[in-house]
Amino acid sequence: MKTETLTVELAERSYPIYFSAAAEALKTEVVALRAAGRRVQVISDARVLHAHPNYLAQAGFEDSELLSLPAGEPTKSIQYFSQALSVLANQSANRDCALFAFGGGVIGDLAGFVAASYLRGIDFYQIPTTLLSMVDSSVGGKTGINLPEGKNLVGAFWQPKAVYIDTDLLETLPPREFAAGMAEVIKYGMLADLELLQALFALDGLQADSPELPSIVRRCCAIKARVVAEDETETARDGGRALLNLGHTFAHAIENVAGYGEYLHGEAVGIGLSLATRLSVALGQMPTEAIARTDQVVRQFQLPLRLQAPLKVSDLMAAMQRDKKNRGGRLRFVTMTALGSAVTTDGIDPALIESLWREAGAS
Ligand SMILES: NC(=O)c1ccc[n+]([C@@H]2O[C@H](COP(=O)([O-])OP(=O)(O)OC[C@H]3O[C@@H](n4cnc5c(N)ncnc54)[C@H](O)[C@@H]3O)[C@@H](O)[C@H]2O)c1
Repeated sequence: MKTETLTVELAERSYPIYFSAAAEALKTEVVALRAAGRRVQVISDARVLHAHPNYLAQAGFEDSELLSLPAGEPTKSIQYFSQALSVLANQSANRDCALFAFGGGVIGDLAGFVAASYLRGIDFYQIPTTLLSMVDSSVGGKTGINLPEGKNLVGAFWQPKAVYIDTDLLETLPPREFAAGMAEVIKYGMLADLELLQALFALDGLQADSPELPSIVRRCCAIKARVVAEDETETARDGGRALLNLGHTFAHAIENVAGYGEYLHGEAVGIGLSLATRLSVALGQMPTEAIARTDQVVRQFQLPLRLQAPLKVSDLMAAMQRDKKNRGGRLRFVTMTALGSAVTTDGIDPALIESLWREAGAS
């Protein structure tokens, strides 16, 4: 099979994303690392390994090179960060060691931060296994862990050396997790790619074995790669990497107030995309019809549009004030000037946001 790749252009830190034939490309890299006398180590989670018991062996990894951690968000913690560092130190792994993440965003974020930190940085590779991690978290170099005080409060920018995207791995992904990943796919269409959004409208659902899936994943990665290449560390004054947070200021507030785990991230993003569209319409940036279009596509992929149980507007507003994307104490949102075209907007009247929360079922 022909190997299809896309490059994330970051000068000397540029790297390929492998699509079709990703498993073969991974195996080739593992063989090359071994031939160069380098140690390899994989971090994964128990659920992924249960779903794909032979994948790593087929790629040339040995059991002794695998660290299996519990599945779920709590693994993105100081405790497991520390455990993973100790495993490397106990093996006397040196700077030549190459660390692979085999899992969803939780494992990718944790392993990436381990790679960024151990001996001040070792080579890192991503083998994403969820739709969310394929289209979003495995590309772009944001790594990190959570603190008891909040999500993603500690981390580093640490780009992988390569990303291996094998969409066959998604066949075992629970439907609810697949739907959550679709929220990020829809997000890319809304922020940068009207054609992608139109293709989604035309689909009667999407599953792991849908023939359209690989090209959709690839299209999302292309958008992420372009945005990251232009604004790697999210320092652009306007627009830039922050645009990837369309719907996320709302989503993070929902996750925070409902309690982490109540909503999958993508479910909160579904509601956030609907609210970001309503906000853009209320600001006069988009015509009212955009609301129905957004709601249709969010619903079409089994994602919620409204809060499942009422949350307090005051709590949601307080959570938004803590959002790390805010500048100078002013609320900052990603809005749209049209479907497929996003901008950053500052200084929005909090009363408008409060009324949008009420529309979404907050009290
Ligand atoms: N770094 C970034 O740029 C970035 C971007 C978005 C999200 N994130 C982070 O990603 C995390 C969420 O990632 P996620 O949604 O992939 O969650 P996850 O890693 O927790 O995976 C979701 C669940 O699916 C299971 N799973 C994974 N692959 C599977 C497969 N192929 N078959 C069966 N089960 C499988 C996992 O064990 C887990 O239980 C959050 O911590 C979020 O902060 C990071």
